[in-house]
Amino acid sequence: MNTARTAADPREAIGLGAAPGKGLDTRHGTVLTLEGISVSFDGFKALNDLNLYIGVGELRCIIGPNGAGKTTLMDVITGKTRPSTGQAWFGETLDLTRMSEVRIAQAGIGRKFQKPTVFEALTVFENLELAQRADKSVWASLRARLTGQQRDGIEAVMQTIGLAGARQRPAGLLSHGQKQFLEIGMLLVQQPQLLLLDEPVAGMTDAETEFTAELFKQLAGKHSLMVVEHDMGFVGSIADHVTVLHQGSVLAEGSLAQVQANERVIEVYLGR
Ligand SMILES: Nc1ncnc2c1ncn2[C@@H]1O[C@H](COP(=O)(O)OP(=O)(O)OP(=O)(O)O)[C@@H](O)[C@H]1O
Ligand SMILES: [Mg+2]
Repeated sequence: MNTARTAADPREAIGLGAAPGKGLDTRHGTVLTLEGISVSFDGFKALNDLNLYIGVGELRCIIGPNGAGKTTLMDVITGKTRPSTGQAWFGETLDLTRMSEVRIAQAGIGRKFQKPTVFEALTVFENLELAQRADKSVWASLRARLTGQQRDGIEAVMQTIGLAGARQRPAGLLSHGQKQFLEIGMLLVQQPQLLLLDEPVAGMTDAETEFTAELFKQLAGKHSLMVVEHDMGFVGSIADHVTVLHQGSVLAEGSLAQVQANERVIEVYLGR
């Protein structure tokens, strides 16, 4: 599946000159292709010959025991960690192993870390406004006038993340869950093609977890999502496709019911 690809233009292979997000070449329906990926830390293989394919618009959950390599996998996709072997393609032509972290983000891969990193002194609206700008200088960004289209984009995102009523509230006064939603919003205003979310519901209330499930189901289709989560109730409420990672490799893949019935998965992760 999707092997032997060559980018005609070497500039294209490292993402130069490619249009962000929407211009991505996904003609075979695959947004992310990882083949034979290995990552070693002082001889220890955090990822070991890993193969993973994410379809356009898919909502994929990645589960697995502590230390399985889930976060390292996200580090490879975002360019934070370079694999020692293997291929990583965004769409058909963008070689993630040769792109900088900044270029990867600009090309349309957004990542949410577990700890929210919003600007506490700025309002919800201002945080979204800032995230939307290419120029990350805070004051230059906030002084420049928004176009109608940009304002509409921010309005739509505030509705999506359930914070339209809190637009003028300083982010520092939001609940933990609301800060998480704001941070997801800060990714959405950049219109990413692929969203990576590492343990998004950790520390959330039940109501916030339910809202997150609805939010992700709504985002799927328009975006591709890769969600790492230990909360199996949450995974069950959103996932149609689950990948189980163990010792840096894919142990099982399928519907949640399928992987839950897999003997090896039960042995290493779910317990009896
Ligand atoms: N920078 C690093 N240097 C050395 N070892 C590392 C480094 N990053 C990760 N590891 C190791 O690689 C393995 C995989 O770690 P990773 O954080 O990817 O696991 P994970 O599946 O995200 O686990 P968790 O569910 O606990 O978040 C672990 O054994 C970890 O200790
Ligand atoms: Mg992790």
